[in-house]
Amino acid sequence: MNAKIPNPENPGKKIVLLPGDGIGAEVTAEAELLMTGLAREYNVTLDVQTELIGGVAMDETGEPLPEKTLAACRQADAIILGAVGGPQWADPNADKRPEQGLLQLRKELGLYANLRPVRLHPKLANASPLKPEYLEGVDLMVVRELTGGSYFGEKQEGDEFASDACTYTREEIERVVIRAADIARERCGMLTMIDKANVLATSRLWRKVTADVMTELFPDVRYEFMLVDAAAMYIVSNPARFDVIVTENMFGDILTDEASMLVGSMGMLPSASLGAGKLGLYEPIHGSAPDIVGQGIANPFGMLASVGMMFDYSLGMKEAARRIELVIWNCISNGECTPDLGGTLTTAAAGAAVRKRMGEYYLSRVAYG
Ligand code: NAD
Ligand code: IPM
Ligand code: MN
Repeated sequence: MNAKIPNPENPGKKIVLLPGDGIGAEVTAEAELLMTGLAREYNVTLDVQTELIGGVAMDETGEPLPEKTLAACRQADAIILGAVGGPQWADPNADKRPEQGLLQLRKELGLYANLRPVRLHPKLANASPLKPEYLEGVDLMVVRELTGGSYFGEKQEGDEFASDACTYTREEIERVVIRAADIARERCGMLTMIDKANVLATSRLWRKVTADVMTELFPDVRYEFMLVDAAAMYIVSNPARFDVIVTENMFGDILTDEASMLVGSMGMLPSASLGAGKLGLYEPIHGSAPDIVGQGIANPFGMLASVGMMFDYSLGMKEAARRIELVIWNCISNGECTPDLGGTLTTAAAGAAVRKRMGEYYLSRVAYG
């Protein structure tokens, strides 16, 4: 099979690859190899176009999200992103930052729902700092609102005063709660909305809107409200109590870094950022990891699982998506993993282990070379 032969039943898909900064380039290299192999195997033409974002884009063009990158992303079926940011661009007096590129991309494309699944492989209970008995049955999905809240409210920035307005409209809350409740309906039928309603006006609006949505559209899905400070505690004391979490932008950011340690490493969590259509942005939740960049030890599994989510949500190839998940699971079962998980493999070797197992899964070794 050849990736270049157009399949009349599948006219081809355009993927924009955004390696970004730090270990972003190391993990996206593995993502590209995996998706190219899968495309060959399923006879789907993938047109992969690499573009600049983040600090490397600022160095080259002056902008964290160059026009050319945004234009390519608008035309794409899916976007794969590594990470942005790093100490060389972190001057608090600078007027541009790499992270602005990612935030602008999410906003411009209307990717309001960020899905971050957290599932523990039993073998990784020892890689987590928590005692194994607290981890049994950890399998949750965090749906983080991604284009609102204090990330995008009006900002004032001076040397004596600064402010970040946190705003939400009913519509912004409604659409992400609907998405999360839909997911809960397909899972264990339980939704936890996390907020700070004892202090924040926006949180009280989240409660009203969530109650309305659940009563009107999801009478069959149970739901509860939980304050974010208590939630941070329950995530480490009783993580298995959660099924689907929905929460505003900043809380979702913080709680998912915390939740990543339930499953062993920051390098494990994938994410899908979705909007109204099929276009999605797929990235691991971790950053550019300046402390390990260039060492070849970054865990690629969160990135590769994000490729799996891309096949599922944007390309409609559910079997391919499921296989990626299973194969990563098998690699972990066999100790084929990077040092953060207690293994000895390099990033490239862990990526190669995944591709080898993909090839063995069906009789399709040719595709993965
Ligand atoms: P980080 O996520 O980059 O790193 C936190 C810790 O986790 C580090 O010890 C790192 O080595 C480890 N880690 C992260 N990914 C790993 C992987 N794949 N394998 C093994 N270990 C891994 O967070 P940070 O150090 O606070 O941030 C560094 C930069 O990344 C900052 O500029 C920040 O803004 C940016 N950032 C970007 C994204 C993104 O692009 N989506 C996400 C988070 C942080
Ligand atoms: C993430 C990151 C980003 C965020 C930063 C880099 C802007 O931490 O994707 O989790 O806060 O959303
Ligand atoms: Mn984050």
